[in-house]
Amino acid sequence: MTITGPITRHTDSAELPAVSLRDMIDGQTAGHLVVAADDWGWWTDLLDGHAVRTTTCMEEVVADGLVRAGLLSRRTQELTLTGAGRDVAAHRGFVRVTVRGWEPTFRQLSAARADHHIPAATEPENVARGCTDIARRRPEILAAVGGAIAGDTPGLTVDLGCADAGRIALLSALAPDERFVGVDIEDGVIADATADIAARGLSERISLLSGSVQSTEGRPAWLDDLDCDAVTTAMSFFLLHQLASDGGGIAAVLSGWMEWFPNLRRLVIGNGMELMAPSWTQQPWFSPTYEIYHAATGVRLWREHEYTDAFSELGWTVTQRHSDHTMLVTSILER
Ligand SMILES: C[S@@+](CC[C@H](N)C(=O)[O-])C[C@H]1O[C@@H](n2cnc3c(N)ncnc32)[C@H](O)[C@@H]1O
Repeated sequence: MTITGPITRHTDSAELPAVSLRDMIDGQTAGHLVVAADDWGWWTDLLDGHAVRTTTCMEEVVADGLVRAGLLSRRTQELTLTGAGRDVAAHRGFVRVTVRGWEPTFRQLSAARADHHIPAATEPENVARGCTDIARRRPEILAAVGGAIAGDTPGLTVDLGCADAGRIALLSALAPDERFVGVDIEDGVIADATADIAARGLSERISLLSGSVQSTEGRPAWLDDLDCDAVTTAMSFFLLHQLASDGGGIAAVLSGWMEWFPNLRRLVIGNGMELMAPSWTQQPWFSPTYEIYHAATGVRLWREHEYTDAFSELGWTVTQRHSDHTMLVTSILER
């Protein structure tokens, strides 16, 4: 057997702690139940303190599974959260990204034995919704970003790779005098998000555009629809690693954005860091999935010092660093 891809970890220990059969088999089923309950709005209701009652056979199937999994408890006819259920409800965005958003990509592995990489084949709406739920569960990080924007002269903030504009909508409430523009490559996600923003009466302050934000591939057409000189803050969450992997490194992508927006004075960069633990069980959950998804799709992950080196090379100072779940780091940078 010839291994052509990189092997990133070595360990001397003969046997590493293993994931269990139950993790694999029943864990996957639990994930599907959690996503279905989320699509029915149960977790939002339960976290808001409203009990859930089942009214159909299929709701009963899902409820029964979640009760037996220890995530819901049933008293009389009402379902409420257990302690473990509260934790899962808060983190359900990770479940959605893994079980629904990335599953079509992992499914390709079987047919890709001889391939160097597989193409990402995500469900973009589920990745978008999952990412917004991941952001929403750490309001203090959003408050720090919103506070930095609101504490400055009002300007125009652009979110590069904005997905369903969930972060923009949340930040627009925290920085009420700022205008926002979101850009994402997924036309369908942008179309749905544009309708949602309009329905919420936010269209005057928030515009969404579709197109690529890869700055190392020439000037995209959507820039012509934007007053680039007015942009004072550029944000990008959980995309820079991919753009940097395809486009010559972190500094190359950032310097392209700095050329597009000459009056930029703030950057907000969120990304998943590469963690180098030898076994899954030594990493925070989601971290192995994140790393294996990227290894399979040929996207490089970057260590934290590679981000900070690129930031300082380009004259940016990290004014705030917020870590979330160890591996997800948001930096606010000024110059
Ligand atoms: C992992 S999601 C992160 C979403 C969002 N930034 C967040 O963290 O909540 C990555 C997003 O980048 C978008 N994307 C991928 N490649 C892109 C590109 N070249 N230009 C613009 N958006 C891109 C995807 O469609 C997806 O919405």
